[in-house]
Amino acid sequence: MRTDDAPLIRLDDYRPSDWLIDTVDLDISLHPTQTRVRSLLALRPNPAGQTDAPLVLDGDELALKALSLDGEPLDASAYAAGPQGLTLHAPPRRGFTLTIETEIDPAANTKLMGLYRSSRVYCTQCEADGFRRITYFLDRPDVMSVYTVRLEAAKAEAPVLLSNGNLVATGEVPGSDRHFALWHDPHPKPAYLFALVGGALDHVRQDYVTAEGRKVELAVYVEPGKADRAGWALDSLARCMRWDEKVFGRNYDLDVFNVVAVSDFNMGAMENKGLNIFNDKYVLADPQIATDGDYASIEAIIAHEYFHNWTGNRITCRDWFQLCLKEGLTVFRDQEFSSDERSRPVKRIADVRTLRSTQFSEDAGPLAHPVRPRAYKEINNFYTPTVYEKGAEVIRMLKVLIGDDAFKRGMDLYFERCDGTAATIEEFLACFAESSGRDLSHFARWYEQAGTPTIVASGRYDAAAQRYTLDLAQSTPPTPGQAEKEPMVLPVRLGLVGAEGDLPLRTQSNAYAGDGLVVFDGPSLSIAFEGVTEPPIPSLLRGFSAPARLELDLSEADLLRQFTRDSDSFNRWQALQSIATRALVAAGRPGADPGALGATAAELGRALGGFLAADALADPAFAAQVLRLPAPADIAREIGKDVDPDAIFSAHRALSTAIGSALLPRLSGLRQALETKGPYRADAASAGRRALRNELLGLVALAAPAEGAALCEQQFETGDNLTDRLAALAAMTLIPGERRERLIARFAEAYAGEPLVLDKWLMAQALIAEPATLERVRGLMRHPAFSLGNPNRVRALIGGFAANLTQFNRADGEGYGFVADIVVALDRTNPQVASRLLGSFKSWRMLEPGRRRQAQEALGLVARTPNLSRDVSDIAERALA
Ligand code: BES
Ligand code: ZN
Repeated sequence: MRTDDAPLIRLDDYRPSDWLIDTVDLDISLHPTQTRVRSLLALRPNPAGQTDAPLVLDGDELALKALSLDGEPLDASAYAAGPQGLTLHAPPRRGFTLTIETEIDPAANTKLMGLYRSSRVYCTQCEADGFRRITYFLDRPDVMSVYTVRLEAAKAEAPVLLSNGNLVATGEVPGSDRHFALWHDPHPKPAYLFALVGGALDHVRQDYVTAEGRKVELAVYVEPGKADRAGWALDSLARCMRWDEKVFGRNYDLDVFNVVAVSDFNMGAMENKGLNIFNDKYVLADPQIATDGDYASIEAIIAHEYFHNWTGNRITCRDWFQLCLKEGLTVFRDQEFSSDERSRPVKRIADVRTLRSTQFSEDAGPLAHPVRPRAYKEINNFYTPTVYEKGAEVIRMLKVLIGDDAFKRGMDLYFERCDGTAATIEEFLACFAESSGRDLSHFARWYEQAGTPTIVASGRYDAAAQRYTLDLAQSTPPTPGQAEKEPMVLPVRLGLVGAEGDLPLRTQSNAYAGDGLVVFDGPSLSIAFEGVTEPPIPSLLRGFSAPARLELDLSEADLLRQFTRDSDSFNRWQALQSIATRALVAAGRPGADPGALGATAAELGRALGGFLAADALADPAFAAQVLRLPAPADIAREIGKDVDPDAIFSAHRALSTAIGSALLPRLSGLRQALETKGPYRADAASAGRRALRNELLGLVALAAPAEGAALCEQQFETGDNLTDRLAALAAMTLIPGERRERLIARFAEAYAGEPLVLDKWLMAQALIAEPATLERVRGLMRHPAFSLGNPNRVRALIGGFAANLTQFNRADGEGYGFVADIVVALDRTNPQVASRLLGSFKSWRMLEPGRRRQAQEALGLVARTPNLSRDVSDIAERALA
């Protein structure tokens, strides 16, 4: 179906369901190509619905085998059934049961939505609307039911049978090679949280006792032979459960919590009640196959899905427009968990990098939308950085604005009041309005208005009056469907930095909330600080207190002083980023003089040299963030129009190389000092040392390629963990030549048979910023490790290439054509993965005219393809609109 024909679903059209389903009894007999599903639904009219309504159940590619009402087969005239739905023309106006039989083919399900088979394992993915691919149902999150699930399968094929809730019974099926398991989930849930798993799986397990005293059996299931890689995920699970008890007062509510890793999965992971299903990339870890980054993301995603048990499952969404109610809030919760487990400042810096690179770029392009969209054609296209990352920022701002205490009381009220319901953003905000006594109606604009606000700030110091006046102005650019913007509520955490550190803040301004917080909620604001005894450096948006762009014209000298003196570590980091950004924007503009970088490079080199000598070893993880320049894509977004990726990339390379050259004399000594003795440990401190050490390796590779190549070879051959060995490969990709090709080959040999590691190998090559990369990627598509059928492989190689700023955006348009062709081919088997890949075009409008034309043509080619999925055509149309 073209999206032109697809209905536009609007928030304003929301109506409660006419029918409710109190209980669901599923009897599922698993077979690779002919799985039988018998579903017994207890239906009743919804008092809040219409009384004379027909019953319309959703379906997707279904085949009805049998249908009865209250146990009696239904006459064919009483209903209409097709692949996309089942309608009962005149259902009884009372409670009744419906028994529906369907047959499905899990092996043929390449969309990986509904019930499918992934390397011999049966599994499901039902969010957002995959349950209707299993049986006819009211597949909407405000219909919540109690599920009882009987699973049956051949013992040899599926010795493990899992579903939601608690295990009630298991047994043999007499006279056959089959067995069954019976599961019951006492918590009413929407269909999108249903799950089943069947297969031959190994597991690791651990007993856990909640703070309330409930005994819970935790288990992580993986492919046979991989149980020794499941320990970190299990350990992370126990830690995040304890944290949620301590910090949010949330206890787990079933007797078992199962996590299953599968190797074909469209997303990262899914929070099905009591049975989380994960992309194996976010479960499997040991030092040989997982990097420090993998350990951190496994911990974070295990926590994210677990935290959904309260923010998503116990309290779910009334409709999919409320998606950020569970996703934004749960991202906020997982960010807080990781901050407490690791370094809070470093986590904040990493999160802001992600926010800027993914969400700010989305907000600046044709796919921009509010945190709560008002209309959609395909909901799967709204699991976006805006809903997730900006959604989490909105919660963070709320906490800053009302304070920790009122935030905590608001959360408690939300859990108490909305437990067991399908809720809305309004209900959520009402809890915080009540707990804080504030009017949050203006703040609620964060959910409605798209676009990244810009704050323009300037300051004046009056020495005679000892007064510092700060002038702020805000504006938000137009986005699709929203030409005019209103001012946002911006919590601006600030300080005035003097020679000896922070100066006291004294002001009469109503906008000052105390504690270094200014609430900036109008188009402009002027605020005077009194008793300021020296000219200060303003430190604004401390901790990145609002997801906004800040334009503040500080001199390079002031930024360098801020870097050494600011008490806020986020703004220390930001100060050097700002220096680099400004220089790169100037040098990356069309027709700019690259020589203009020289002075900045020298300044940055000096500052970093001093920093590395003085405090780098005290906090290596922070130092690694300081050394990492803003990415070329961030510079492109700052430039914003007529972008020439090659010019930006050359400037970026030149600056990095110059900094590397300035630091070169110190690098080998520092790298030695950072070396970790003894066996690999995944803790944050060891990871921080490796991060800095490997950041320095990249600088050597740029500044002294021959020396760098030798170091990479040595580190690859002697490294005892994937973090160091992959860093060696990544640094080597910066150095063209024979030695690079040899290391690439060595890496593939060393990790043959490790698909998740080979994904990193594929991606490292796809990211090489050289014209030959496109041919290399084409070649790698024929490598035995690659498959278009596996989402992880596609994301690594093709997604990696699409993230390669200079090569995806080749001036000849070949990069666009290549990705567009793959999108079209992939759309026939897996529309979700195809449409996410097409999202790589989201910044095409900011390019210089030549590339813009080429990108538009490639998008047009996709848009004009017949029989596109709704997923892909929706993105193509919005990108072109
Ligand atoms: N509920 C989502 C999974 C999901 C996403 C289902 C899109 C259907 C469509 C899950 O909680 C989630 O958010 N997963 C993220 C990882 C998370 C740590 C942000 C994912 O899969 O990328
Ligand atoms: Zn989530």
